[in-house]
Amino acid sequence: MEYYVVKGGSPLSGEVEIAGAKNAALAIVAAAIMADEPVTIENVPDVSDIRALVGAISDIGGEVAHPERHTYVINGANIKDEPVDNEAVRKIRGSYYLIGALLGKYRKAEVALPGGCNIGLRPIDQHIKGFRALGANVSVVPPGHVRAEASCLVGSHIYMDVVSVGATINIIMAAIMAKGNTIIENAAKEPHVVDLANFLNSMGAKIRGAGTDVIRIRGIEKLHGTNYSIIPDQIEAGTFMYAAACTRGDVTITNVIPKHLECLTAKLTEIGCEVTESDDSVRVVATRRLEHTNVKTLPYPGFPTDMQPQISVLLGLSRGTSIVTESIFENRFKYTDELAKMGGNVRVEGNTAIIDGVENYTGAKITAPDLRAGAALVAAALAARGYSEIYDIHYIERGYEDFPEKLRSLGAFIAKVSNKDEERRAINGFNMRIVG
Ligand code: UD1
Repeated sequence: MEYYVVKGGSPLSGEVEIAGAKNAALAIVAAAIMADEPVTIENVPDVSDIRALVGAISDIGGEVAHPERHTYVINGANIKDEPVDNEAVRKIRGSYYLIGALLGKYRKAEVALPGGCNIGLRPIDQHIKGFRALGANVSVVPPGHVRAEASCLVGSHIYMDVVSVGATINIIMAAIMAKGNTIIENAAKEPHVVDLANFLNSMGAKIRGAGTDVIRIRGIEKLHGTNYSIIPDQIEAGTFMYAAACTRGDVTITNVIPKHLECLTAKLTEIGCEVTESDDSVRVVATRRLEHTNVKTLPYPGFPTDMQPQISVLLGLSRGTSIVTESIFENRFKYTDELAKMGGNVRVEGNTAIIDGVENYTGAKITAPDLRAGAALVAAALAARGYSEIYDIHYIERGYEDFPEKLRSLGAFIAKVSNKDEERRAINGFNMRIVG
């Protein structure tokens, strides 16, 4: 079993380049099967969630070429009429995008119920409501598959009861080749919803309003091939920004869209960091202990739930008491037990964490409970005094490309090891670097 060993206490410093957005890529790679021509997608992050989705696409007859590490060419001309199900696909959340893509294209989809991080109930009722509004019959059939079928999909006026990224994207895909017009109200406005809409429009779809809460779609007959590059990952960028602040470092994060990071930047500035933006990079400098604040997670452009563990870890080191309210997912504070092992002082009451900042964390043996919390705990370990071991790193690798390598390029002492011998060698290597 692989784990990270970390020697904390050194400020991160230098420059790090951000990969393509995982959550945009999951939607775009799934949507690529909707054309019967090759679709080239660039800037796809090399992470395990994407590999699982691409594997599922090849399993059902999609032709997939992978000419470069971050480029896929997908041709959905020969997709077979069979359920999407394998062990990898059942573990990821993004597999549900194949429901919208297959239903939209073939009027029929059967896909294993989605997995994903265990951060709450994560129902898909809004996806189903949207598919039904377009005329599909949707049911859950053994062995745990969602089946959606329609003789004809017809445009509709859909009001979403909750703002859902996944449901907005799935309904867009199901509606682009429906007869007539569809309006989605109370749509999610996240950058990856806009990226998916731009991608589909480059294939001939007629989608307007993505990035606002009303999306209008005019149904078209068919999509054609395209060549498209995915936007940078807002959450990976945010994770490095907050890790830089945790370690009192000086890090320039490149290949970002600063606009997508505005609320993350605003919080850092508010608590005492210096943040400088340029066209496609941000520099975060933290020279002293930061101040406390309150944060509530909200749909975009609010503070992202996927950055909640990272800001909580940072506030855990700040002066005074901070209050973090999680309003999107109900089970997203599990990592606070791990943080307590490192000396963190966090009390969770319902959907609120009350954080009394401590001067330092201390290294400990900890377990990543999910993807984002795993990355946040690595940031805690980098800031901590002493050594940490971080287990269940497969969660982190679902969504962060070359995470330890990128951190090492910023001067961090982190290594991926699989036994105590390797751990000892890694620690010797850390100490030699310090002496050298
Ligand atoms: C996506 C992201 C995830 C991120 C989340 C919120 C992917 C693969 N995952 O997840 O990283 O944390 O957006 O930004 O892109 N809800 C319902 N019914 C539904 C759908 C959602 O009640 O049918 C609720 C959820 O329980 C949650 C809220 O709506 O409380 C938002 O969920 P949603 O935006 O759908 O998250 P995901 O698409 O699952």
